[in-house]
Amino acid sequence: MYITVENPIFDIIKTRRSVRSFLPIKIPDDCLNLILESAQWAPSACNQQLWQFIIIKDNDLKIRLTTEAGASKLILKAPIAIAVCYHSGNIKEGIQSASAAIENMLLVATSLGIGSLYLNSFGKEIKVKQILNIPDELFIVAFILLGYPEKQLPPPKRRALEEIVHQNYFSKYSKETFSHDANKWTLSSVRDFQERYCRKTDLGTRMDIVNEMEIKLIQNILSREKYDNILDIFSYDGSLLNNYPDMKIFSLNLGSETSLFTTYAVNRKIEPLIYDDFIPLKDKSISNAICVFKLERIPPQAYDKLFSEIKRVLEDDGRFIIVFRSRNSLYGLIHRLIKIKFDDDIRKSGIYSFFGPYSPLKSADIISSLKQADFSSVSQERFFVIPPLIDDFYQLFLHYFTSGGGAFYHREKRKSIVGNLIHKIIRLQKEYNTKFGSVIVLTAKK
Ligand SMILES: Cc1cc2nc3c(=O)[nH]c(=O)nc-3n(C[C@H](O)[C@H](O)[C@H](O)COP(=O)(O)O)c2cc1C
Repeated sequence: MYITVENPIFDIIKTRRSVRSFLPIKIPDDCLNLILESAQWAPSACNQQLWQFIIIKDNDLKIRLTTEAGASKLILKAPIAIAVCYHSGNIKEGIQSASAAIENMLLVATSLGIGSLYLNSFGKEIKVKQILNIPDELFIVAFILLGYPEKQLPPPKRRALEEIVHQNYFSKYSKETFSHDANKWTLSSVRDFQERYCRKTDLGTRMDIVNEMEIKLIQNILSREKYDNILDIFSYDGSLLNNYPDMKIFSLNLGSETSLFTTYAVNRKIEPLIYDDFIPLKDKSISNAICVFKLERIPPQAYDKLFSEIKRVLEDDGRFIIVFRSRNSLYGLIHRLIKIKFDDDIRKSGIYSFFGPYSPLKSADIISSLKQADFSSVSQERFFVIPPLIDDFYQLFLHYFTSGGGAFYHREKRKSIVGNLIHKIIRLQKEYNTKFGSVIVLTAKK
């Protein structure tokens, strides 16, 4: 059958979006009942219907879930959270049946103009079960958040059908890379990864982990000289751009989704550009190019082309500043320890996973590539023997343990004596150039 008429179900399927900010408007009971009835009508393994749904509206209870179980703070934003549970007798059947029920609920909610979120970051399961009095024999499949959406969101791109559909037998397939090691990626695989991952949450939400002392350092570096404009190399989540001085900003990204994401993150107008072995700018049109903690994400084989493109667009007295974390430093050691604990798979550590690979760099390698690209001189400074990022990593670990490994990244600081001490020690460091610094700043002149 060839379908030419409008298909209302398909319209709803395509309209459904993951909503993460809600209006403070109550959901009418009859709407909630219809959403719950749609769960009842989902298929279930052996028609057992062993699902249970807990409707959570009480704010104090939601606060307990976030503080005691490490649930995502998103649940505080939604008028209704639903914990979806299933009998643990057969986990596979439980996940399959409950997921069918969840999708029914999300679609019916969409049809009623109600926004929803399918939420895995509900925190430490054992703790959530305790707080909500969930019996031992049930397990939590996911949470659903419901509420009237605060804004309309553009849909994230979908993988092409040819990429995911096979006829009769499994045919060709391009395997994803998940290594921390940028050497194992190509620029195009980094681009594909970023294009999907940057849309894993709300557009413009700060995702990258950069310490406030590092931000201050970048501000100080940029205030040393006056520039007409600045080209930010691979802005990604764009959050750093808000700290740049008042000048025209060109923001280079690998793809359209990351570019869109950056535009949403910045609270002033920027010029978004997309890099495909070419910077779409005229020769000698830029007075300062800067790449902050982003070279670590790019395969080294892409440096030569990138650097020579940057050299081309720089004015004759232009500067190219690269800020990166050093492999030969205390930071490099910590990075290696994290890899030992969490494996080389970026998805396991949570840290830096959002935009693909991340490996601290050797200064000599970058300087040699800059020389290769014919930059006339390169100067080096190093800052912070104790990497300021330890402060943020400690927070990440605290959250990792509270949520039982369910969530790693959290923007909320957790109070702790050790955390306070780490914070204070790191802050004792002054911003001076030191041989053992973990953050390196290279300034290349054209
Ligand atoms: C099993 C599952 C778990 C998810 N968990 C979360 C979550 O914990 N936090 C979140 O913000 N989004 C979560 N999402 C939403 C996805 O990020 C979202 O579906 C994806 O980015 C595609 O966007 P769309 O739903 O608007 O099409 C989850 C989605 C699924 C299917």
